[in-house]
Amino acid sequence: MEEKNKLYFDGCDVTELAKEYGTPLYVMSETAIVGKFSQLKEEFLDKYENTRVAYAAKAFFPMAMAKIAEREGMCVDVVSGGELYTALKAGFPPERIEFNGNNKLPDELRLAVKNGIGRIIVDGFSELERIEEICKEENRRISVLFRVTPGIKADSHDYIVTGKKDSKFGFPLDDEVLQDQISRAIQSEYIDFKGLHFHIGSQLFDNGPYLQALDIILELTKKIREKFGVDVSEINFGGGFGIQYIDEERKSYSYFLDPMMEKMEKFCREEGMERPAVVIEPGRSIVGEAGISVYTIGQIKDIKGVRKYVSVDGGMTDNIRPALYQSLYTGVIANKADEEKTETVTICGKCCESGDILIRDLKVPEPEQGDIFAIFSTGAYGYSMASNYNRNCIPPVVLVKEGKSRLIVKGQDYEDLLRNDIIPEDL
Ligand code: LLP
Repeated sequence: MEEKNKLYFDGCDVTELAKEYGTPLYVMSETAIVGKFSQLKEEFLDKYENTRVAYAAKAFFPMAMAKIAEREGMCVDVVSGGELYTALKAGFPPERIEFNGNNKLPDELRLAVKNGIGRIIVDGFSELERIEEICKEENRRISVLFRVTPGIKADSHDYIVTGKKDSKFGFPLDDEVLQDQISRAIQSEYIDFKGLHFHIGSQLFDNGPYLQALDIILELTKKIREKFGVDVSEINFGGGFGIQYIDEERKSYSYFLDPMMEKMEKFCREEGMERPAVVIEPGRSIVGEAGISVYTIGQIKDIKGVRKYVSVDGGMTDNIRPALYQSLYTGVIANKADEEKTETVTICGKCCESGDILIRDLKVPEPEQGDIFAIFSTGAYGYSMASNYNRNCIPPVVLVKEGKSRLIVKGQDYEDLLRNDIIPEDL
């Protein structure tokens, strides 16, 4: 039975979670995560043949998350040796791992090749050569796609728009080098050339730029066929599907994917070719709304006629997004969930930084020290971008499901902060 005036999340009383695990605390709902994977199955994987979902690990990827993605039959998209290592250690099948990134390091590529991962998404002029060398040394063959920047400007924060021409990601289209690279990949005995990848940005709500990008990619597919007599057998649409932080109107996966699949199928019919496999890489849309951050309210500073600052025991170290992208969030006092909202306050963090503001001008019931405050939709790029600034500890992560909770990441303690420090003998 849910008590009145308390916030519940996946069947758990949030104030009880705060008591049991302490604050600040990240809480992730397993039900919500699995729900998103189920939507993807219904709207994409089961609806269209020869499709895959590679969950974008960068959004949130402790080993428990790797386990959930694996259990739900997903692939995973990693972008660093650390994410790759996490997936492997969690027992994720290597052939379902796909590796992105604009500057993959030699050791990272070696780890990928040695373990026989499913795909490397080539994203730079010297990368293919390096992969070939490593494959030769390791006596392995690997499947690759090329990441292309289609030159599309999607509508989102500039830092998270990646598909425009002026970008550190991907191969620019008008460059002969791309064709040379593809030709080299087709001929190489170490490389299995699969196809093309694009990712136009993140937190997007309009399918227009996706469709424009796809047009460009399909044109390129045609060129490759004409020039090399080879059919692209896989196209990766990237991720970027937007979620609700405040009152954004989130779109279904079908809204994005149905017209894209239709476009692909039409193109392939006209060209008389088999439709390539289609892969997507959603991150935020899987875990974003599945997470909340839980804090305890501390100092309250009422600057008369200016603003009331309500401080919490975390801040930009556990959620950098408001400071970095001016991202908007909303939240509630978890122990006053049904009370009338009579005040307008600013929720700020505890870091030594004026920009450490989590939410501006939020309506809440009268806040008091010791109240528990929860911020919604922090599941993506919250924990994964956390830092130790000011030597604050990174909070624990708890996974909840229908009223039950389990710790999936231990919180750091002060000893963890010192673990890698060395005082040289001469000091
Ligand atoms: N695939 C590629 C190649 C990507 O670069 C990204 C995100 C994704 C997939 C997943 O996109 P999603 O579905 O999560 O939108 N830290 C920023 C987001 C950076 C996203 C970078 N790439 C934030 O907190 O908003």
